[in-house]
Amino acid sequence: MRTQVGIVGAGPAGLLLSHLLHLAGIGSVIVESRSRAHVEARIRAGVLEQGTVDTLVESGLGERLAREGLVHRGIHLSFGGARHAIDFEQLTGHSVTIYGQHEVVKDLLDARTRAGADIVFEVEETSVYDLDSERPVIRYRKDGQDQEIVCDFIAGCDGYHGVCRPSIPPGVLRIFERTYTFAWLGILADAPATSDELVYANHERGFALYSMRSPELTRLYLQCRADEDIADWPDERIWDELHRRLETDAGWRVAEGPILQRGITPLRSVVVEPMRYGRLYLAGDAAHIVPPTGAKGLNLAVADVRVLAKALASFYRAGRTALLDAYSATCLERTWRVQRFSWWMTAMLHRFDASTEFDRQIQLAELSYVTSSRAAARSLAENYVGLPLSV
Ligand code: FAD
Ligand code: DHB
Repeated sequence: MRTQVGIVGAGPAGLLLSHLLHLAGIGSVIVESRSRAHVEARIRAGVLEQGTVDTLVESGLGERLAREGLVHRGIHLSFGGARHAIDFEQLTGHSVTIYGQHEVVKDLLDARTRAGADIVFEVEETSVYDLDSERPVIRYRKDGQDQEIVCDFIAGCDGYHGVCRPSIPPGVLRIFERTYTFAWLGILADAPATSDELVYANHERGFALYSMRSPELTRLYLQCRADEDIADWPDERIWDELHRRLETDAGWRVAEGPILQRGITPLRSVVVEPMRYGRLYLAGDAAHIVPPTGAKGLNLAVADVRVLAKALASFYRAGRTALLDAYSATCLERTWRVQRFSWWMTAMLHRFDASTEFDRQIQLAELSYVTSSRAAARSLAENYVGLPLSV
């Protein structure tokens, strides 16, 4: 098979790239190791920055998003027994939209399928070759047969555990990394939302987050140990911990309901530099991971893909390589700012193993500053709603 851009991974990064390239008249083929049903059902991120919403709307994917997305004008920070509102609209003039990542993926898959896209699901043994040549190659097995796609470019959109990044020869990449000793236990519950906005709680028993997917479905997270076994968390223990950590505001209650999905996600901060090797371009989680506290992973993937699609369009339209050459530096500038914000939110809201009473007081002072100073609140708000897209 021959294509212009071979894409590894049908997550939000790979699918959006394929969609944007299609709109620019550029052909692509996506290979994905999981089934379509699995990709569509994978519950992950839920908060879309304004820039992400704009990208989806401008590329013709805004219809269901406008109908079902929940526009949130701010968040609450909960600490020291009280809840404090941070009003993004008032502070920045922007808001965020709650719309599940799997809904974005469904919309993208529908649009790509309607346009007759080549997406090969359930591939095995994906590998990439000849990355520093003008004809890089993707190989995989499908239904027991070896297959090969010869490409002009390869986009590594295969997430943190993918094959593209490890295929770059040793010594090329610098890896910057921070690991955390805690994780998030996340649940999706068939329980009505009782708060209009998200609640991020710093509690002495650990962090908790109240979110939602619709007025009828809540999405909740609890800080837990990184090596925690989900079997040690029966429903009753999960709800008990959520009530204790979240219900600081007098009279406000977290509604319980059947737990539809549950899982434990480790927290990591990772950046690789550069995000390119030869004709392989890394985008999204393949190039960087942020801890989820700032709600940024999906939004950062969308920002990378916007830059890459524009650079490839400039190459195919005018033969120019300047934007492709600048791809890594352009994306890394934003990536580091987003890493900083995600690290800062994580540090302010979680309970750290080695933390002392001094550290705890600093956290509370930080929260008290952010919720009482307009300048500090605005800094949180402008990062949360999303820094301007540089292209
Ligand atoms: P992925 O979604 O990981 O997609 C990669 C794809 O590549 C997958 O479909 C995978 O199956 C496929 N693949 C992997 N290896 C191969 C291979 N060898 N061959 C072929 N295909 C392969 N982000 C936010 O912005 N806001 C949030 O609120 C938020 N909350 C989160 C909550 C949780 C619990 C988690 C886990 C993440 C959250 N994130 C959030 C992060 C966000 O989900 C990710 O950053 C996002 O999925 C990145 O998209 P991606 O397309 O780069 O990677
Ligand atoms: C959600 C996830 C996040 O990581 C976050 O910071 C806010 C909301 C969510 O899944 O709804």
